[in-house]
Amino acid sequence: MMSFDGAIRIKVYEQNLIDCFSFNVELFEQTNRWRIYVGESRNGAVIHDTESGHIVIAGATTFGKSNFLRMFIANLLHNKQGICI
Ligand SMILES: Nc1ncnc2c1ncn2[C@@H]1O[C@H](COP(=O)(O)OP(=O)(O)OP(=O)(O)O)[C@@H](O)[C@H]1O
Ligand SMILES: [Mg+2]
Repeated sequence: MMSFDGAIRIKVYEQNLIDCFSFNVELFEQTNRWRIYVGESRNGAVIHDTESGHIVIAGATTFGKSNFLRMFIANLLHNKQGICI
């Protein structure tokens, strides 16, 4: 048996999701240290702090998991310039 005491918030947007977002390495400027750029939401950039939470990368075959990991590592290297990791 499951129970849930909180409230579920549902947001309804008038615009469709965009089909394509052009990646630019300057997006990494929004991050530092272990905070990593994950992508764009309707409310702006999604930044994940790897020091304060876990992340799961999952998806169907060829949906971009490996590509995301490359971006993740590139972001870490960008933030750690001059420091051995
Ligand atoms: N963010 C992206 N934007 C545009 N195209 C992408 C993106 N990520 C991946 N692709 C395209 O999808 C292809 C597959 O991506 P990727 O290898 O990262 O998928 P995967 O989820 O790791 O696949 P698999 O499950 O086979 O390991 C890439 O070769 C690329 O052409
Ligand atoms: Mg892969």
